[in-house]
Amino acid sequence: MSVLTTPLTELVGVRHPVVQTGMGWVAGPRLVAGTANAGGLGILASATMTYAELGAAITKTKSLTDKPFGVNIRADATDARRRVDLLVRENIRVASFALAPKKDLIARLKDAGVVVIPSIGAAKHAEKVASWGADAVIVQGGEGGGHTGPVATTLLLPSVLDVVDIPVVAAGGFYDGRGLAAALAYGAAGIAMGTRFLLTQESTVPGSVKQQYLDRGLQDTVVSRKVDGMPHRVLHTDLVDSLERSGTLRGLFAAARNAYRFRAMTGMTWSTLIRDGRATKRASDRTWQQVIMAANTPMLLKAGLVDGNTDAGVLASGQVVGLLDDLPSCRDLIDGIVADAIERIEAIAALGASPQSIHE
Ligand SMILES: Cc1cc2nc3c(=O)[nH]c(=O)nc-3n(C[C@H](O)[C@H](O)[C@H](O)COP(=O)(O)O)c2cc1C
Repeated sequence: MSVLTTPLTELVGVRHPVVQTGMGWVAGPRLVAGTANAGGLGILASATMTYAELGAAITKTKSLTDKPFGVNIRADATDARRRVDLLVRENIRVASFALAPKKDLIARLKDAGVVVIPSIGAAKHAEKVASWGADAVIVQGGEGGGHTGPVATTLLLPSVLDVVDIPVVAAGGFYDGRGLAAALAYGAAGIAMGTRFLLTQESTVPGSVKQQYLDRGLQDTVVSRKVDGMPHRVLHTDLVDSLERSGTLRGLFAAARNAYRFRAMTGMTWSTLIRDGRATKRASDRTWQQVIMAANTPMLLKAGLVDGNTDAGVLASGQVVGLLDDLPSCRDLIDGIVADAIERIEAIAALGASPQSIHE
């Protein structure tokens, strides 16, 4: 099979310029190893794991693949430095950051030879992380699932490509070979996908929940701020409607209850939870109300994506869900995308070579 060699494949040492992003509760060892074995870059999501769980997930992933993979971390977690040290010790190839990364963490990773690829949602953030030494960025347009911004990939991507000279990976709305060919035509070094990988054989999301995603159309996602105070793209469900209608006090009460459950589940002490909250507040300029609500996200996502209780949980999703109607293996998915992209690129190149395309 032909391959597409790009600055991303060369930087990371993977066969295909296709990234499976670090989705909380979804991107575990099975999905990450499935992606890695298929030649893509799989990224473990660690924001919803304790430090010990992250260690176990790295060990498990290594037992399933000998290919390089990445780990997504939250720079504002109180144990972020310890997690970075773990990545270095474990010789992890790529560190990805959700939300704002930190200069000192990037420096530590770079010193140890770990490739650093933060996710960003605006050109100015891309410039900032590039100046701190990031090796590449993933830029997520507004149609993407989970936390997302207001600007579509078609405009955000060129705005980022215009201001940085490190490899840029395009995310938000990708699912097929046309998207990969288009991203490469923009000047990106590859594509990153969340929702598409959630809907694969290797994804551990319960089958009944996957079916709920497959049943949805292009207009069946909404961006809600009521989950954790930040814009979050999720499937439109009755629960989301009721969150949208709920008043501030009820929302805060529910969030505090979720903070309590999150603490019990992760074994976190209250002081760590509060310290994390303070750090989040400082790093992201959020109000205390938003910080308390932040505990909602992991718990509401877990209810849906792990426990399969879609009445009690939110289901993060990109708009692309409306175009997905199958559950391929990671290998079939990636092979199909790359083969189709190569065909498209050759067809476009042939346009330039054909005399009919020249209009006098
Ligand atoms: C279920 C789900 C959970 C996500 N969790 C995270 C996360 O924990 N950290 C992160 O950086 N991005 C997270 N994201 C965003 C994805 O990493 C990715 O940027 C996004 O899904 C790309 O858009 P797409 O869904 O159109 O492919 C999540 C997305 C989904 C759909």
